[in-house]
Amino acid sequence: MMRHFLRDDDLSPAEQAHVLDLAAKLKAAPFDARPLAGPQSVAMIFDKPTLRTQTSFAAGIAELGGNPMLVEGKLAGIGIRESVEDVARVLGRQVAVIVWRTFFQADLDQMAAHAGVPVVNALTDDFHPCQVIADLLTIREHKGDLSGLTVAFVGDGACNMGNSWLLGGTTAGMHVRISAPHGYVPGEEMFARAREIAVGTGGSAQAVPDPVEAVTGADVVVTDTWISMGKESEQAARVAVFAPYTLSTELMAVASPDAIALHCLPAYRGMEIAAEVLDGPQSVVWDEAENRRHAQKAVLAFLLEASHEGAS
Ligand code: NVA
Repeated sequence: MMRHFLRDDDLSPAEQAHVLDLAAKLKAAPFDARPLAGPQSVAMIFDKPTLRTQTSFAAGIAELGGNPMLVEGKLAGIGIRESVEDVARVLGRQVAVIVWRTFFQADLDQMAAHAGVPVVNALTDDFHPCQVIADLLTIREHKGDLSGLTVAFVGDGACNMGNSWLLGGTTAGMHVRISAPHGYVPGEEMFARAREIAVGTGGSAQAVPDPVEAVTGADVVVTDTWISMGKESEQAARVAVFAPYTLSTELMAVASPDAIALHCLPAYRGMEIAAEVLDGPQSVVWDEAENRRHAQKAVLAFLLEASHEGAS
């Protein structure tokens, strides 16, 4: 069966653990896995801005022996010049994997349905699963076993990162608290799915509107921009509503004394996170950014192997 990574729960708990183990191995020995040797190409398409995702995929694909092929989203005109299905059919004849950052999850699903090669979500409006795999790798490095740890996500819970943390965190057996203002909480269906996963892993998923209550005793505190890509026109309203959710030194102080702070970046100091926290001793954001490469290499290697096994 062709395997894709479109949302966090596309990996079972055992598969997620395997990917994290592989990511740690590849971090220690970056050139040990060569599943793209040839080189085979991986198409990378970005319909939204990118820094970390493009560079970490490009470097990681090269380290796996492959050729990172940047496909210019605007030139390709996916869904405009030709349908997502037709683009998928064409790309699938040229490359071993398709990595796509776009707006609608439904478009990504269409790509996966018609490509005939693994498709990886490099961020949609709904999910950012590669980021959460990198985050989990970073947390493991700093805190050991993920299972049973409490993570508090503070800020725009209704964005891709809030959803991905609910699914990816519970898959890892973590207790996930989402602290967001009214109107910016993940949908009930996301909590329902996270709780379903948590039944099997021992984790939990909770909405905790009060940020102090959410962060109290947490092992890991996560935030993200209040203005996700595509939401720029809502800036003024969002800054007002999210102001009480800034990850300040005072808020960080109620977490566990050895808690770590994560941010997928880009960060806006003085808005969702205080400079003292982002640049302070509890911040692991630069490890987190580096780990995108190691985590995504493991995802690619896993998908290629699992898809191949299924085909034989
Ligand atoms: N929620 C953010 C994540 C950026 C990596 C956005 O979608 O812009």
